[in-house]
Amino acid sequence: MTGRFIVLEGGDGSGKSTLAKHLATRLRARGIEVIETFEPGGTTLGSEIRGLLLDGSAVAPTTETLLMAADRAQHISEIVRPAIDRGAWVVSDRHVPSSLVYQGVVRGLGVEEVERISTWATGGLRPDLVVVIDVTDEVAEQRRSAGEDRMEREGAEFHARVRAAYRELAAARGWCVLDGDASVEMVATGLFALVEPLMES
Ligand code: TYD
Repeated sequence: MTGRFIVLEGGDGSGKSTLAKHLATRLRARGIEVIETFEPGGTTLGSEIRGLLLDGSAVAPTTETLLMAADRAQHISEIVRPAIDRGAWVVSDRHVPSSLVYQGVVRGLGVEEVERISTWATGGLRPDLVVVIDVTDEVAEQRRSAGEDRMEREGAEFHARVRAAYRELAAARGWCVLDGDASVEMVATGLFALVEPLMES
């Protein structure tokens, strides 16, 4: 079987990190080698970049975009590409769609422009599946925990714009959208149903 690249997306507090673990467990139970990873920060260099992006104070939107792209370039070349090439499945908590939503739409830099930079950073590697975990603002608010980072401290209006941008881009780009308000078990089962067809192809 060839490798697969699955990306989980959603606003802050959508629960996708927990779902990524559930998905990896279910895939491993089928005998598949799974690499669980994330952006920004999935590599040693990337974790330094993540610190610059999320701990500090002001970061200009263009700087933010370029740092996300730099993190992504390292992530693809060090983790994702080698794993897929040896037939493993990669489950990534965030990837290019996050940049299109956060920097392209919400920060207002333009989806096409941000996509161009991201595509250059990835060398054109595309996910086999993108799933957006969509939760209502109230549920996301409850799940956003203590220890909030620079993005999570943004106000309710910012998070509502993130959610709207995910829904809009998902419709235009064929990303799957999963209702994430239900129990973790139920959402994890829905997610696995979306992933299962990739085992057959
Ligand atoms: P992360 O800590 O993974 O958020 P969460 O724990 O909610 O999943 O991601 C950090 C923040 O970085 C998150 O608010 C989204 C943002 N981000 C972007 O703005 N652009 C990007 O390209 C990526 C990958 C993340």
